[in-house]
Amino acid sequence: MIEPAARAEPPRAPETAAAPPAWLDAALSWPLLTQAPLRSQHLGRAHLAELRVSPEAVGAYRSLTPDTELPPGSFFVEWLRDAESGRPGPIFALERAPEGWRFWVLDARGQPEPGGAPGLCAGCHAGAPAPPLFGLPREGLESTAPVPRSPE
Ligand code: HEC
Repeated sequence: MIEPAARAEPPRAPETAAAPPAWLDAALSWPLLTQAPLRSQHLGRAHLAELRVSPEAVGAYRSLTPDTELPPGSFFVEWLRDAESGRPGPIFALERAPEGWRFWVLDARGQPEPGGAPGLCAGCHAGAPAPPLFGLPREGLESTAPVPRSPE
């Protein structure tokens, strides 16, 4: 079907459709959990992850066991970056929501991916040491190379 020609506004570009979630701004100010970025096990290719956890959950996350209770409202966030080019990749997050765990997938600018997080996130994370969290330390996963950076 052809759209009426006399539209007052141009169609909105898809990238303006979804605003970054409210927690993302605060998350950027949380301290990094590791000195060096982690070699991420996500995406099936060489990626580094910068990991931040909301302040009230840092202590519990650092001494994670399968019985650890994480405070509702806490977040565990990884900013992924291509290990070779340094280009920013997606942002993956886990939220301890009051009713359970929620997975988030945002693009490099923080906009939620349409359709939300795929079911495979929860599937693989169900097998984590403190489900759904993998936690620290991650033997051998801290990279020793400086993180390449490209302009964001
Ligand atoms: C095939 C297994 C697998 C899948 C699928 C997977 N992850 Fe992970 N995830 C891991 C592993 C292993 C780690 C720890 C190492 C790392 O950071 O890459 C991790 C770590 C994380 C962390 C850091 C918190 C923690 O300690 O667990 C977040 C957040 C996260 N993943 C989100 C996601 C999201 C969102 C998805 C879906 C888009 C996803 N993951 C899919 C294996 C997986």
